[in-house]
Amino acid sequence: MTAQLIDGKAISENLLSVLRQRVAARVSAGKRPPCLAVVLVGGNPASHIYVNKKRQSCEAIGFRSLAYDLPAESSAQELLALIAKLNTDEEVDGILVQLPLPDHIESSLVIECIDPKKDVDGFHPYNLGRLAQRVPLLRPCTPKGIMTMLHTLHVDLHGLNAVVVGASNIVGRPMALELMLAGCTVTICHRFTRDLPDIVGRAEILVVAVGKPGFIKGEWVRDGAIVVDVGINRLENGKICGDVEFDAARQRAGWITPVPGGVGPMTVATLMENTLEALEARELG
Ligand code: GUN
Repeated sequence: MTAQLIDGKAISENLLSVLRQRVAARVSAGKRPPCLAVVLVGGNPASHIYVNKKRQSCEAIGFRSLAYDLPAESSAQELLALIAKLNTDEEVDGILVQLPLPDHIESSLVIECIDPKKDVDGFHPYNLGRLAQRVPLLRPCTPKGIMTMLHTLHVDLHGLNAVVVGASNIVGRPMALELMLAGCTVTICHRFTRDLPDIVGRAEILVVAVGKPGFIKGEWVRDGAIVVDVGINRLENGKICGDVEFDAARQRAGWITPVPGGVGPMTVATLMENTLEALEARELG
């Protein structure tokens, strides 16, 4: 079997074009466009690339984007003061603080200061709690974007065995909550998991977010599985690759996401979707 590709780039472009039309309709009706504040602290090169993509995506679909680039030495107090200002600014709909933060700033402190109504990353404990209780409001972008991709396959997800490899707050944990909400039987694997190849081999849906190139061997993949690779790893030769051995996994899977051009563009498009949703929810009061 050779897996079909799940074309995240094409799916994200469709989503962005729908959002562009919704913004244009708002503006024609005399309403203002959504506005996203993107905050970057310090100079992590990968973060710079991701933040630029988010800002460019805003421009491309008619959102306002506010850029705050703080020096790496900024104190937590300075960052919290900026967030407090953005929280009360009626014209700001979404606040995104790019992670990771420098070591001297506790990220949970920062996340908990963001108004949950403007938490377009969906990382605030209130928003994660809503997702855990099956009444989601703003949902983390990467897992939500992956669910959007899975829905395009028109596969009934109820009862499928889903395995999530990686248990981070940003991807693994909320991904497991999303898959449970969709009716899957979910297993989460992490650094202490034993018999990983065995568990992966039982996955009808496999989502991998560990940040290690080629960590999941193609021969572990179950025949016909849906494989979603969240990893974005830069090799020494400059090439970008995922966490799954793509060529070998493709021989066994039913569907697979490429890297690049899979999950990455979905995350950015979903952030835009969340920002418009945050605005519309605040308008409704
Ligand atoms: N760093 C890696 N992924 C993300 C994300 O989705 N949001 C934020 N804020 N930082 C990240």
